[in-house]
Amino acid sequence: MNGPTGESTAPLLNLARDLAREAGRIIVEMRAAAVGSATTKSSPTDAVTDADRAAEAIVVDGIHRARPDDRVVGEEGTDRAGTSGLVWYVDPIDGTTNYPYGIPAYSVSIAVGRDGGPVLGGAVYNPVTDELFAATRGAGATLNGRTIATSAQTDLAATLVATGFGYRAERRRAQASLLVELLPAVRDIRRFGSAALDLCAVAAGRVDAYYEAGLNVWDFAAGWLIATEAGAVCDDLRGGPPGSGFLLAAAPGIHGVLADRLRALGADELPD
Ligand code: IPD
Ligand code: CA
Ligand code: CA
Repeated sequence: MNGPTGESTAPLLNLARDLAREAGRIIVEMRAAAVGSATTKSSPTDAVTDADRAAEAIVVDGIHRARPDDRVVGEEGTDRAGTSGLVWYVDPIDGTTNYPYGIPAYSVSIAVGRDGGPVLGGAVYNPVTDELFAATRGAGATLNGRTIATSAQTDLAATLVATGFGYRAERRRAQASLLVELLPAVRDIRRFGSAALDLCAVAAGRVDAYYEAGLNVWDFAAGWLIATEAGAVCDDLRGGPPGSGFLLAAAPGIHGVLADRLRALGADELPD
């Protein structure tokens, strides 16, 4: 598979993988240092903020050194212009609520794609479990180098569904009301706390489906490609590409039924 200039996407994925691992190492070390220090941190939020920024700097500097002409967008404020037609999306810690508690469900998420076009490569790294999910477009998805695939689920009543909630109270109220209707119709609900890892869980068949409204592109770009390459159907509930409005990623045998149910519940019409 080739990028816009005809180059192979394999080196792009290698860079994403290396930087995700490097940033992952740093955030684990910074957490250990913050937990071990009684004096240097005024609150867990400080530790999160410091680690977020440090990890983003490592990834952004690494991309810039290797690919000075590419655009880079990161959650912690990076928006570096580029001329190559390629753009990188970086979430230095996806799962910031889990991170200070030591809940082992946070990740570094790095995607690269055509600016205004498809994602070409993505890496999501959980540094606690040492799990590296990766994909390039058209070449399948892997977990630590082994091919992964979605579940074969076809029965809504047996479907395990992951989801997430936004940070605004009004939206959370609406998301909780929707769950009241959905929960009795499915096997169970999971809320792991990292959208990137949720998408990788669909890819690896650890859950059958994942949906969420109101994500940002750095949350889902890499995981979207990984889930798609593992066989998942990913859309916005209306047949369009997933986006900040709504994202459903599901095993192919259950996507249609679950999408119908979510649409009927108005899942993509919740308040912002
Ligand atoms: C959040 C996580 C969470 C999802 C939120 C995201 P952050 O990202 O992915 O699982 O429910 O919508 O904002 O803040 O941990 O980078
Ligand atoms: Ca995020
Ligand atoms: Ca983040």
